[in-house]
Amino acid sequence: MKGKILVTGGTGYIGSHTVVELQQSEYEVVIVDNLSNSRADVVDYIGQITGVRPAFEQVDCLDRPALEEVFCRHQGIEAIIHFAASKAVGESVQKPLLYYRNNIVSLINLLELMPKYGVKGIVFSSSCTVYGQPDVLPVTEEAPIKKAESPYGNTKQINEEIIHDTVKSGVPMNAILLRYFNPIGAHPSGLIGELPNGVPMNLIPYLTQTAIGIREQLSVFGDDYNTPDGSCIRDYINVVDLAKAHVYAIARMLEGKQDEQVEVFNIGTGRGVSVLELIHTFESATGVKLNYRIVGRRAGDIEQVWADPAKANKVLGWHAETGLDDTLRSAWNWQLKLRERGIQ
Ligand code: UD1
Repeated sequence: MKGKILVTGGTGYIGSHTVVELQQSEYEVVIVDNLSNSRADVVDYIGQITGVRPAFEQVDCLDRPALEEVFCRHQGIEAIIHFAASKAVGESVQKPLLYYRNNIVSLINLLELMPKYGVKGIVFSSSCTVYGQPDVLPVTEEAPIKKAESPYGNTKQINEEIIHDTVKSGVPMNAILLRYFNPIGAHPSGLIGELPNGVPMNLIPYLTQTAIGIREQLSVFGDDYNTPDGSCIRDYINVVDLAKAHVYAIARMLEGKQDEQVEVFNIGTGRGVSVLELIHTFESATGVKLNYRIVGRRAGDIEQVWADPAKANKVLGWHAETGLDDTLRSAWNWQLKLRERGIQ
């Protein structure tokens, strides 16, 4: 075994894929999750995929005493990967205080406990949303941080600052901030993926639910943007590839290879794909026709953003590997599995 890693939000979408990759790389994992947006059986599925059932603590990171208990029960945690957060952009506009409390106090609790329990570092789930609409594409880590469009986006920016300030104050810890682009797809086993929670707001779950007949029609939000086909452009990153980036980050941190105490990496493919291109790739990769129509723009959408992942490629040694076809097939396979399991 390489080291004990605490994964908050470890039963969630990106968290569960990351736990699988960590265990397959011989790390020991302790999951902390309050199951607010996930299911306990994800732990069993992780066990099925890897042959190892991770330790699981149903604890809310806001509950400081319960969180501290976890550090006491699982002595020797070397690093934390902090996924646990609320992530619905629209909801964050409706319930800003919920978002600020959940996303900020959770991080503060962890940062306070880390030195007390000798935890060496934290990998934080950040987002390309911190760049807003970048002036230069592809966007590098040096691009300016733009004013956040939503309380959700603001929590990511504030959390990055909290980590910088904490390290600057002399607390002996390292941090790696991973700025994710748009994670999509599911594990090739079909055992874990993104679980539906009401009407999806993100493109891929809405698209696969339309393809299977749960939704009647996919709306494409705008075809009058200043892009080649008029629809918005994003950098869609396979969730397993994204999960692997965390394993590289943990290894770099625990092997003491960081050049700075806080390092930032873009985690994307480097390729921008438009909404219409994505729909057509889905149709050709799966053979399933999609019912879609163009509607007006969605408020708050960025026109186009894709990553320059050169730093992650060179410094972390990580590369996105999976093609868009395979990724979209995995998303479709997951939707079919959800139906088999009677989950809509
Ligand atoms: C959003 C957030 C991002 C957050 C991510 C995951 C913004 C600006 N960004 O990313 O911070 O990390 O969600 O929660 O809010 N689309 C359609 N029809 C749909 C749904 C989406 O055309 O039914 C289009 C959108 O206009 C966009 C693209 O698909 O161009 C991707 O949308 P989405 O999956 O919601 O992700 P982002 O908005 O990029």
